[in-house]
Amino acid sequence: MLKTTISEVYKYVDQEVKIGAWVANKRSSGKIAFLQLRDGTGFIQGVVVKSDVPEEVFQAAKAVTQESSVYITGKIQKDERSPFGYEMLVTGIEVIQAAVDYPITPKEHGTEFLMDHRHLWLRSRRQHAIMKIRNEIIRATYEFFNEQGFVKVDPPILTGSSAEGGSELFATKYFDEDAYLSQSGQLHLEAAAMALGKVFSFGPTFRAEKSKTRRHLIEFWMIEPEMAFYDHEDNLKVQEEYVSHIVQSVLKNCELELKTLGRDTSKLEQIKAPFPRITYDEAIKFLHEKGFDDVQWGDDLGAPHETAIAESYDKPVFITHYPTSLKAFYMQPDPNREEVVLCADLIAPEGYGEIIGGSERIHDYELMKQRIEENNLDLDTYKWYLELRKYGSVPHSGFGLGLERTVAWISGVEHVRETIPFPRLINRLYP
Ligand code: 4AD
Ligand code: MG
Repeated sequence: MLKTTISEVYKYVDQEVKIGAWVANKRSSGKIAFLQLRDGTGFIQGVVVKSDVPEEVFQAAKAVTQESSVYITGKIQKDERSPFGYEMLVTGIEVIQAAVDYPITPKEHGTEFLMDHRHLWLRSRRQHAIMKIRNEIIRATYEFFNEQGFVKVDPPILTGSSAEGGSELFATKYFDEDAYLSQSGQLHLEAAAMALGKVFSFGPTFRAEKSKTRRHLIEFWMIEPEMAFYDHEDNLKVQEEYVSHIVQSVLKNCELELKTLGRDTSKLEQIKAPFPRITYDEAIKFLHEKGFDDVQWGDDLGAPHETAIAESYDKPVFITHYPTSLKAFYMQPDPNREEVVLCADLIAPEGYGEIIGGSERIHDYELMKQRIEENNLDLDTYKWYLELRKYGSVPHSGFGLGLERTVAWISGVEHVRETIPFPRLINRLYP
């Protein structure tokens, strides 16, 4: 018997095939049983008709329990009514392992219960769709940067210095030395850009942030491009083209998944470069006009502020030129206005908040040294980073896109905890 997967059944219409699967759900009457089958590649309905199969096959179908593993055989048929387009007319069932009392039933469960059962919850249709969209964003990311001539570089995860500020660091011991889990690969990527021109990394990052919001994870994945000879303006162009590419790729390749999630795709269709830009000054002025009296020039923008700004646009919006005092030590001050930096945060539409932080980097040796000292950072620790400004320094820029926030936005999922297989949250290290 020909063994295949659900994703490949379209090749075998009117043929009998064998599929290894799990029984996601089941309905049966005296004459017919409907098995919702899943195999990781997709979901298909198996129909078992009592009068068409040996009695023991029908009895096996009626008895099989939720999440039992099976080898199922049957004839593939076109099915116009299902969103998938095919169903299987079952001819045989071989139970591999019978599951007893699967904890996640088709009824409603609370989020904490589901999070405690994340190792099983991942099997559900909705979680499956989110993980497939996550995977498509990763695939489209490699496609985009490879096509643009970037070299993938892997910065270290154990570091001796902080990239984004000390308070959110996970400290550990590196034999006798103090070490930290990486908050961002950026500093090492700057070194790599001076060797390879245009580079990008994709890896895990760690922030010991005690934030309990729908946008914060303790461990998250970041895509970080870094480009030699690119200024602030060049940097924004890469960002809007990259984000447009991943959104359009998901629309093209994840139609079924977006449907499963009930995503309003008309909102995503509009996501095409160029994206609107406003300065931090304009953002503050806009917020005051909207009645946000709680924020003054020099204050960081909170989630409600970002959402209010994003609501005026149907595309992601860049907020540029933040006050120097709010941003990391390495950002290039605006030559015309030292109190702001050549940076941008990209705010996603529909209240999903900041998905990218980026900037032009300081390339002048003396200025970088001064900024390190002003920020009370240790010159010895940053010696190698400063040396990049000593030997053939060039203007360069880069950014970091948070994968989970991007998945949340594109999938239309409320909370980032559902966008990573095993979320690390302030109170969660299990499973
Ligand atoms: O704005 P951030 O902190 O920027 C950097 O780390 C730069 N060094 C990146 C660079 O220029 N190479 O973080 C970048 C993005 C944010 O815009 C957000 O999408 C995501 O990373 N992010 C988080 N995502 C989930 N949970 C958290 N705690 C996050 N913190 C940042
Ligand atoms: Mg940021």
